[in-house]
Amino acid sequence: MWDLAVPLDFRVAMTSSHIANVMQERRVFPPPAEFVARARIRSQAEYEAMWQEAAADPAAFWGRLAGELHWFEPYREVLQWNEPFASWFVGGRTNACYNCLDVHLGTPRQNKAALIWEGEPGEVRVLTYGMLHREVCRFANGLRSLGVRQGDVVSIYMPMVPELVIAMLACARIGAVHSVIFGGFSSEAIADRNNDARAKVQITADAGWRRGQQLPLKQNVDAALAKSPTVEKCVVLRRMGNSVPMQPDRDVWWHDLIAQAAPDAAAEPMDSEATLFILYTSGSTGKPKGIRHTTAGYSLYTKKTCEWVFDLRDEDIYWCTADCGWITGHSYIVYGPLAAGATVVIYEGAPNWPQEDRFWQIIENHRVSIFYTAPTAIRSFIKWGDHWVDKHDLSSLRLLGTVGEGINPEAWMWYHRKIGRERCPIVDTWWQTETGGIMMSPLPGVTPTKPGSCTRPLPGVVPKIVTPEGNEVAVNQGGWLVIAQPWPGMLRGIWGDDQRYREQYWSRVPHHYLTGDNARRDEDGYYWIMGRIDDVLNVAGHRLSTIEIESALVSHPLVAEAAAVGRPDEIKGEAVAVFVVLRSGEPSDALREELRRHVRKEIGALAQPDDIRFTNALPKTRSGKIMRRLLRDIAAGRETVGDTTTLEDYSVLARLREQEE
Ligand code: PRX
Repeated sequence: MWDLAVPLDFRVAMTSSHIANVMQERRVFPPPAEFVARARIRSQAEYEAMWQEAAADPAAFWGRLAGELHWFEPYREVLQWNEPFASWFVGGRTNACYNCLDVHLGTPRQNKAALIWEGEPGEVRVLTYGMLHREVCRFANGLRSLGVRQGDVVSIYMPMVPELVIAMLACARIGAVHSVIFGGFSSEAIADRNNDARAKVQITADAGWRRGQQLPLKQNVDAALAKSPTVEKCVVLRRMGNSVPMQPDRDVWWHDLIAQAAPDAAAEPMDSEATLFILYTSGSTGKPKGIRHTTAGYSLYTKKTCEWVFDLRDEDIYWCTADCGWITGHSYIVYGPLAAGATVVIYEGAPNWPQEDRFWQIIENHRVSIFYTAPTAIRSFIKWGDHWVDKHDLSSLRLLGTVGEGINPEAWMWYHRKIGRERCPIVDTWWQTETGGIMMSPLPGVTPTKPGSCTRPLPGVVPKIVTPEGNEVAVNQGGWLVIAQPWPGMLRGIWGDDQRYREQYWSRVPHHYLTGDNARRDEDGYYWIMGRIDDVLNVAGHRLSTIEIESALVSHPLVAEAAAVGRPDEIKGEAVAVFVVLRSGEPSDALREELRRHVRKEIGALAQPDDIRFTNALPKTRSGKIMRRLLRDIAAGRETVGDTTTLEDYSVLARLREQEE
């Protein structure tokens, strides 16, 4: 389709804001009739009417829905917008924990399973809404007895056990601010976050399970607390029964703390805008930033988006495979689904433990009906082979979801065919730590899906695609994805750094929230995320999005996973360097040539990789995102600089460096 022999003047004529769109995906999958018949929202007209109402008058739209929360005191005003600071439900008082638990007491949901937890070694625990309420109250009383008060920051570093959810909800109940730190982070990372947040109390466990190994959580915390002077107390859950050193004035066992605690604790009536939690995420600078979310708007936004996107029904068994250490766990394991009264499956461990079919085994055992996971996991499943899937009865599934990165169309097709058996809609949900909840996604009973597109914005979300100068681009042209209107789940700032908040999100394109993503909108109004703004390659005057090249590579039968980055090139500006994980077959020059040909065929000569390196694994963050910054350094032959604390496996870096073309 593309020919590098384009005349020079054509290349010069490409404006800096133009991103060449080379992805051709024409398949469309309407929602299955059987699904539509039972869906909560089932017609395009209904969706359009909601979207139009929310865009025209957000206050009226969200004000109407706000009655679904419990209010200790009513709010005076739905929205005060003092750009870039939003206040939602001004003057009202509510409590995020109350909205997840107490609202279900005295209803048929009281004795319904809230959590079905499976540990990595195989044990299962079920907590009903009534039981979860009691455990949360006991722990809330325990925290109060340690002196935790409204506004205090509690740092949580735990394995994926029910007590992690209990700890989060207990903080919310008493008005403390939780800062959950993913259990895979190092002690350095914990200390950085504790100090930035000025955490007062730490909660952890003796250890956690991961792929049959014990993660020494308490040991990491001990090292972190030596450098976290603000932390006064540390609560330790006994998960393994290991003997761990306890520091007498500081450390207390979870079971001792709650031994005498009453199973009832009043929920604090919190101001709508009281901070519910901070969650640290990486920025482009390498210094993690604490994204701040507040009480009422976040509670409402996560509940409603959960109901719309997952079409939740009381009889569903819902499983989101994220860890509570990430925003997906906060919004779609804890606050959204519990407010919606769902039954939530939580799994502690790795997807390939003891074997590569653990996820399918869990779906079969617990009769999971809604399954929400990440494209990176899907690519691993593909690599491990279909025989792991074929051993299991997945007929309980009715809806599939993805989150965290764009999904390559070929991986989407595999998910659709192999896991969904062509009967389950797939919701590709686009959002961010900062957005609090899902922003763009198909509605499963309404939206025809296209593999690789997150389709259309949810009600209340008004996206635009603009040039760096702020002008909207034409159909099918790439540009910066911005959001034109505040929404209830949006971040309220960066903890302790209003200046960085303004600069990073609100200064580049006036009066718009800058997502940091590139996207295009097609002729049907569907959005296609084209990677981060800094993932854009500029090859011979053309901009290319990395995901398009990666999708092309992954569509080759021998390729399991691929990452594309740019490296400096004297002639073309940037050359395309790709890192390829093979599904089968051996690396060879012939295969390199074949892959080049394949990309040329799929996209055009423009995108043809200059360097192809084969590798067994890609460097990823613990949430599964490819660390392109590191790959760019490797591709350019540079030393890696900056923050590598989120890297899953350091040996990957060393192995990649050893590889020369
Ligand atoms: O680049 C987008 C990508 O992940 C970024 C947000 O990352 P994080 O804050 O860690 O939150 C991940 C979980 C919500 C986005 O800016 N991203 C997330 N979902 C998608 C996606 N890219 C394409 N398609 C998606 N569905």
